[in-house]
Amino acid sequence: SSHIPVIAIDGPTASGKGTVAQKVAQHLGFHYLDSGALYRLTALSVLRRNTPLDDEHALAKAAEHLHCHFNGAHIFLANEDVTNDIRAEEVGNMASKIAAIPTVRQALYGLQLSFRQPPGLVADGRDMGTVIFPHAGLKVFLTASVEARAQRRYKQLIDKGFSANMEDLSKDLTERDARDSNRSSAPLKAAEGAHLLDTSAMTADQAVEQVLSWYASAKSS
Ligand code: CDP
Ligand code: CDP
Repeated sequence: SSHIPVIAIDGPTASGKGTVAQKVAQHLGFHYLDSGALYRLTALSVLRRNTPLDDEHALAKAAEHLHCHFNGAHIFLANEDVTNDIRAEEVGNMASKIAAIPTVRQALYGLQLSFRQPPGLVADGRDMGTVIFPHAGLKVFLTASVEARAQRRYKQLIDKGFSANMEDLSKDLTERDARDSNRSSAPLKAAEGAHLLDTSAMTADQAVEQVLSWYASAKSS
């Protein structure tokens, strides 16, 4: 499948990866992989089972036997629609904790590769360009200021009916970024050759335009 094009979009929480990646995929008629959702689904399933964080074997098993499927914008765990449930901050924080465990990451590796189907894939997460698709034809590292990201996440949570406050959110974002960046297994960092895009003062559509224009240049070079 190495001839199937991949666009890898990585970045910190609430930088706009998901929104931008989905729009780029839609525009090109490509498949979309929300790799963070796989970590969130694993987190939701272990939260529900009260699996202790030090039981690495059970955590890796949960990732390996993740019964999930994706249907358009909807995400299912077994047969339950958990599209909204996995967006809770509690789930994001747990996702970031279990994502630091190498055996959990290993358990989700094959599932991520399987999303690479014709005519192409746009994948977003933390290690799309560094570990999962190191030969991606285009790599993008999205960033935005902590303030911009906290504001975006605040609006998203309120819109989904969760309660939220800016102070806790900024603290959560900063902690999660630090944990994701400082872990030894697949840390959050820009891949070699990645285009950097700071979207603090951009709309999502402007970011999409930039990624599409990079993709057009990458394809023709
Ligand atoms: O996937 P990630 O956590 O990086 O971000 P997201 O879930 O796509 O959330 C970003 C939120 O900020 C969405 O509500 C977007 O509409 C909004 N936004 C953006 O994505 N990009 C901008 N340049 C401006 C706003
Ligand atoms: O939406 P947001 O950017 O806040 O998070 P996400 O992309 O849904 O990912 C949730 C957590 O999963 C992150 O904080 C990472 O710790 C982890 N993750 C990861 O380690 N590797 C990925 N490729 C994607 C997510």
